[in-house]
Amino acid sequence: MQFPSIILILHQLKKSDLQLYQENQLLQAAMLKLKNNSQSIGLVPTMGALHEGHMSLIREAEKQSDVVVISIFVNPTQFNNSSDLDKYPRTLEEDLILLNQNFKDLIIFSPTIKEVYGESITSEKFEFGNLAQQMEGRFRDGHFDGVGTILKKLFNIVQPDKAFFGEKDYQQLLIVKKLIEITHQNVEIIGCPISRENNGLARSSRNKRLSEEEQEKSTFIFKTLQEAKEKFGTKNVLLLKQEIEEKFSKQDFLELEYFEISDAATLVPVTKVEEHKKYRAFIAAYANDVRLIDNIALN
Ligand code: PAF
Repeated sequence: MQFPSIILILHQLKKSDLQLYQENQLLQAAMLKLKNNSQSIGLVPTMGALHEGHMSLIREAEKQSDVVVISIFVNPTQFNNSSDLDKYPRTLEEDLILLNQNFKDLIIFSPTIKEVYGESITSEKFEFGNLAQQMEGRFRDGHFDGVGTILKKLFNIVQPDKAFFGEKDYQQLLIVKKLIEITHQNVEIIGCPISRENNGLARSSRNKRLSEEEQEKSTFIFKTLQEAKEKFGTKNVLLLKQEIEEKFSKQDFLELEYFEISDAATLVPVTKVEEHKKYRAFIAAYANDVRLIDNIALN
């Protein structure tokens, strides 16, 4: 971002009590002050291009914490595809304006890549086990190591009591809970419901890269998940999977990457439904070159 526009935005921010930090040390000093005053801290980690889904996470964080920190950082190590990283929307200026319109008190942490990674932009390797081998892990090599790396760093810098994540990235939510187990970081992970447009499309920063008409066509994803939910329990799951995959192949806008029905706790793909277990259905699909994901609880 151009330096003068940062000044302009900071000037606007002064109207409310938003504080913008771009350096670890300054943020850490602010956090220490809050901790010393026994204030609880809620963190909402984001990659920016903020939308109503993020606003709902912040509102939940506000309910459950004295002070809310939102991080805005497009994390390079979680992208397995450099063109996806290049095209990821970066809209810090608009993000700050949106936050300014919606919230009175908020701490925003938007560090540079160098501030976070120094000279070595690499991922730590984590043992997430089966959780990382399914779905996103299968199609996005190294993705969850990248997510684990940035969140471990952010949790260390911010030292939040709670961190808030949307269930749209349900697999990520389970991975983050596992991360806390592995790293023994003292953060409570809170999952929040998927935020949807009126037409059902799950809110995502990537939707910004689709026209209105393309977004409307992409509602096929949620409609399909709803259909899976209706039919779940009435027919064999493997046949249901086949039926959904065939439906996808017959429409010409979206290209299905995977449709999966899995155990909601372990993410192991279901072969036989057991009564006491919870299941979820998951979809990843391409709308042009924009990758969209969504999921639904089935029972
Ligand atoms: O869900 C996201 O936006 C990102 O994966 C996260 C959690 C902010 C880590 O970069």
